Amino acid sequence: MKRILFFCMITCGVAMLFSSCEKSVIDLGSSKKAYDPGAPIDSVKFNTEVLPDLDANCTACHSATGQFPSFEEDVAYTNIISNGLVNTASPAESIIYVKITSSTAGHGGGLHPATGDLLLQWISQGAKNN
Ligand code: HEC
Repeated sequence: MKRILFFCMITCGVAMLFSSCEKSVIDLGSSKKAYDPGAPIDSVKFNTEVLPDLDANCTACHSATGQFPSFEEDVAYTNIISNGLVNTASPAESIIYVKITSSTAGHGGGLHPATGDLLLQWISQGAKNN
């Protein structure tokens, strides 16, 4: 009986060790860039960084059949620009940024500070379809 108990403890220990390692690897991989006004131009790309982030955090609600506006891949850029959601002259006042980072904006989808940081950086670099 003692042996079985010992074996179980070792197995659990090893499992915990591996699962905790795996988590830190995943966290590193998905870490976002913090807003940095001094970052080089084009450090955030719309198609490879902003789009996947919107897809992961916003399209569950903001889709063609869901909440306006849709942030789905094929229409996201057009919808962001044509609905005036970005303000390149004053990036921190952009609707898309304020909506998801300010607790007083009352966003139906809650706060998303990491996505906000990424968007702010992208907008401050001209909100290009890059
Ligand atoms: C759980 C559902 C949900 C998620 C997830 C969600 N939203 Fe929303 N969003 C809403 C609802 C509901 C509204 C309309 C009410 C309001 O204005 O808050 C809205 C409104 C908005 C608006 C205002 C649109 C306009 O023209 O008035 C913007 C911008 C927006 N969301 C951006 C985002 C972004 C960016 C994300 C991802 C980081 C996101 N939302 C995630 C539900 C969601």
